[in-house]
Amino acid sequence: MAVLKIRTWPDPILKQKGALVDRFDEDLRRILEDMAETMYAYKGIGLAAQQVGLALRLLVCDVPPMDEKDKPLGLLYIVNPVIVRREGEITWNEGCLSFPGLEIDVRRSEMVHVAYQNERGEKKDLIARGLLAVCLQHEIDHVDGIVFTDRLPPLARKMALRNYERLRREAQGREVSQKDLSS
Ligand code: CO
Repeated sequence: MAVLKIRTWPDPILKQKGALVDRFDEDLRRILEDMAETMYAYKGIGLAAQQVGLALRLLVCDVPPMDEKDKPLGLLYIVNPVIVRREGEITWNEGCLSFPGLEIDVRRSEMVHVAYQNERGEKKDLIARGLLAVCLQHEIDHVDGIVFTDRLPPLARKMALRNYERLRREAQGREVSQKDLSS
């Protein structure tokens, strides 16, 4: 297992639509395990293939239950996901490991029914609500080459991207001054 490098915006891989996965072999399982390890290392609740430089339709997620009486689903390996039904509306303050530091309110469906395949290619179904539904929609967008700022109205999107550019410059500035200190 290995922690992979996370691609950050504006890396062009984040705009690439993922290809369908048709080989459910050891290589695929290793990619999924590495993605899970990377997600935990960065304290994320979801991670899509594009975020580690692969234009494929796969993602991992591990979302804590919102309600104590809900049983936790734990780590999910989701391959070739399709949203077959959606209901309601929810606004969540989302972050993204590919946009470090940026948090934005995004409007999504409150419930999604997702059909997918697991790491062995078996057909699965999942009905998700709340945070898990938000997370799945965010990650399924990634496998379609869509990032969370694309879900904002034009003006809010412009402001969010400007804000992110500022955060990125500040982070780069910090890296440079740390190098100065250590040299
Ligand atoms: Co993301």
